[in-house]
Amino acid sequence: ASNKKLLVLPGDGIGPEVVGETLRIVDWMAKKRSVSFDIEEGLVGGAAYDAHGTALTDETMTDATHADAVLFGAVGGPKYDDLPFELKPERGLLRLRKEMDLFANLRPAMVFPSMVENSSLKPELVSGLDIMILRELTGGVYFCEPRGIEDLPDGSKRGFDTQAYTTPEIERIGRVAFDLARKRRGKVTSVEKANVMMSGVLWRQVMTALHASEGEGLEYENMFADNCAMQLVRTPKQFDVIVTDNLFGDILSDCAAMLTGSLGMLPSASLGAEDPTTGKRHALYEPVHGSAPDIAGKGMANPIAEMLSFAMLLRYSFDMGEDADLLEKAIDNVLAGGMRTADIMATGKAKVSTATMTDSILKELDKLV
Ligand code: NAD
Ligand code: IPM
Ligand code: MN
Repeated sequence: ASNKKLLVLPGDGIGPEVVGETLRIVDWMAKKRSVSFDIEEGLVGGAAYDAHGTALTDETMTDATHADAVLFGAVGGPKYDDLPFELKPERGLLRLRKEMDLFANLRPAMVFPSMVENSSLKPELVSGLDIMILRELTGGVYFCEPRGIEDLPDGSKRGFDTQAYTTPEIERIGRVAFDLARKRRGKVTSVEKANVMMSGVLWRQVMTALHASEGEGLEYENMFADNCAMQLVRTPKQFDVIVTDNLFGDILSDCAAMLTGSLGMLPSASLGAEDPTTGKRHALYEPVHGSAPDIAGKGMANPIAEMLSFAMLLRYSFDMGEDADLLEKAIDNVLAGGMRTADIMATGKAKVSTATMTDSILKELDKLV
């Protein structure tokens, strides 16, 4: 037992639904495993905008930096589509990432054995698949200045963004990639477009040099992003760790999601640098999927991405690998029993609701301890 501070930010759309179900797992952990948290809830995204006129208040921002970990749902929705750029729900999430300096976003894509038939690819291509997409999360075109929409003399407009990476930004994400690969199968694929982008040229130079100086014993390759997208659906098992920039990482991780049977299965961990004296680091755990407005409020969302994000929270923020393993095992067993939410590409299986999926996972947890 302890008092670990957890800030929960459910957000919008299916965010509150999948976070609500995950909190039932957190309760179970508190009762049966003496894993106790001081839980605070806050508003983010459209929910925060509705209450306070901003997608993230300074107070919630401060709470997030003081928490031991943040569990995040999803933000956004059609209701907010016409808001000015700075007020959009997504700005809340981007501010959290930037101000907590969560530069390393770990997006694992794993295929549960019983889900092999649910992938959009042939079973033999995905059976046993276990890849890690490491996405740089605080730089690149998501944050660089200048950006804007300007008026041109001819009366038309010009929208522009800036893509840039510095040597230290590339090196710190590169080091995380090499560390991850050492604990996995020892292979790193660095992805950019050095054939057309100057930021890609530097990315490739810095990563290649870093591999030479710090990547001893690791297999390393450079790959263009368009080819990587193709290779991911051709032979995904060739990859171990893919390290890439903010935008390519966003796109490639959605692509990898479908290899596993549904976007609703993919968790992620957004991590900051470790403080050398305390060993602590900022961390936010967020599913890869969004607020799914098309199914929000219908009780049919898949809660597994959020639950697996909580498992990553246990593992990466609190060193509770055993509890994380237990939760993953329970999910694995329930899927093996044939239970599927509607998003999972499945044939001839009964579709269950969000709550029924959680009920079964809780029952399975009870059986496992
Ligand atoms: P989305 O991920 O919300 O949905 C894409 C498709 O996948 C939809 O058909 C949806 O129903 C389905 N889906 C996603 N998660 C699911 C789950 N857990 N269970 C069942 N089905 C699921 O992406 P979108 O539709 O492009 O974006 C909707 C909104 O979400 C936008 O405002 C976008 O900016 C936002 N968004 C937020 C995050 C985030 O908060 N981290 C991530 C992506 C998108
Ligand atoms: C994601 C989302 C976010 C991103 C949006 C909602 C800001 O798509 O986490 O993958 O583009 O990073
Ligand atoms: Mn995305």
